[in-house]
Amino acid sequence: MHLTKDAFGKDFMWGVSTAAYQIEGAHDQHGKGPSIWDIFVKKRNRIFQNQHGDQACDFYNRYMQDLALMQGMHIPNYRFSLSWSRILPNGIGQPNQSGMDFYDRLIDLSLELGITPWVTLYHWDLPYALEKKGGWVNRDVKDWFGEFVSTCVARYGDRVKNWMVLNEPTVFTAAGYFFGVHAPERKGLGNFLAAAHHAALAQAHGARIIKSLQPDSRVGTTFSCSHVEAFTAREKDVIAAKKADVLLNRLFIEPLLGMGYPTQEIKILNRIEKYIKQGDENDLKFDMDFIGIQNYTREMIRYAMFVPYLQAKIVTAKERKVEMTEMNWEVYPSSIYQMLKKFSSYPNIPPLIVTENGAAFKDQIEHGQVHDPKRLNYLQEAIQHVYQAKEEGVNVKGYFVWTFLDNFEWAEGYRPRFGLVYVDFQNQQRIIKSSGHWYANFLK
Ligand code: NOJ
Repeated sequence: MHLTKDAFGKDFMWGVSTAAYQIEGAHDQHGKGPSIWDIFVKKRNRIFQNQHGDQACDFYNRYMQDLALMQGMHIPNYRFSLSWSRILPNGIGQPNQSGMDFYDRLIDLSLELGITPWVTLYHWDLPYALEKKGGWVNRDVKDWFGEFVSTCVARYGDRVKNWMVLNEPTVFTAAGYFFGVHAPERKGLGNFLAAAHHAALAQAHGARIIKSLQPDSRVGTTFSCSHVEAFTAREKDVIAAKKADVLLNRLFIEPLLGMGYPTQEIKILNRIEKYIKQGDENDLKFDMDFIGIQNYTREMIRYAMFVPYLQAKIVTAKERKVEMTEMNWEVYPSSIYQMLKKFSSYPNIPPLIVTENGAAFKDQIEHGQVHDPKRLNYLQEAIQHVYQAKEEGVNVKGYFVWTFLDNFEWAEGYRPRFGLVYVDFQNQQRIIKSSGHWYANFLK
């Protein structure tokens, strides 16, 4: 079937997403303070080929050209994040005027070009000054974050209506505080559970602040999710899959909806109680205006006796010998359909917006052009699946491609390219890929 954007209705919101640390560069320009990522990337062997985001796409200095490119591609909505330590170099206290001015210019120009800004308040780059005080493990982070949120809403709220509080709390707490493979490299269950609870608290707290300062705002937050399947029908695998589903899909949405933490399937999660204070259960709850769904693949799970706490493990795409992206994730665009169905089945779930979806494939410049049929296919299929979910009654109101520009993919460095626009990191040249031309045409 040939899908057009009209099939989704006039109000459906189409866009692209990015994140500050992954594209801005200018890591120490004009008074920006260091974030945990600025510090982490300087250590040896943490990032693929010891790469870093010091320059990245140099978006800080090139945003004018990049927004013009975006406009040329008929993209009506742009999701980006604010760098906390560009605005508050010490995390709290004295703001950095030039940092604040940068986002003023970015927002103003977007609006001038007819592009609606969607602002993420936290996309993983905690100010290093706050990490020194314990970061997300310290309960005070709720108030530090609150101060940052108020600062941003006071400054930009006259022009920004759409806010997302956190980006993927599951990923930044698990990778950064349990496995230690992302900044700030903390490990273990205690760090993870403390960080997770404080992130969940900060999420609702941040949302409450936005709404109180700006009642006509549209406030959401974003969750990573993957369709989970048991590798076999054996009971042990089915139980293992249920546990993985808790961690991958349920951990943050359920307390937000007022259901408490899903500790039934994984008893050890009860240890989170150690960090919960009186009144928290209620504070964790907030009626968001929308929930951002971010999906890339599905996961197959099997029982694994030796995996501590869980007795469950992922059967990787490599082991299963299925087609993979450059992230070694299974190419499985219909996962987005399954996730939209799953999230929409919660009672009282707010409208859903796909705030990230996309795929990394190898790209090559040939005769000045980049042909990326695999990404193009992925996006077309995923969008088709969003349509199917919508047709079946799921209240899904938008779709944002991850991502606009090839960029710094965290621990994987610049190798996986997710962009609709190719970036040559030697000379910062941009080339719209065929997928980008297709999306532009689709949106026209
Ligand atoms: C989710 C994260 O929000 C984003 O920063 C990352 O680049 C993409 N997934 C792809 O892994």
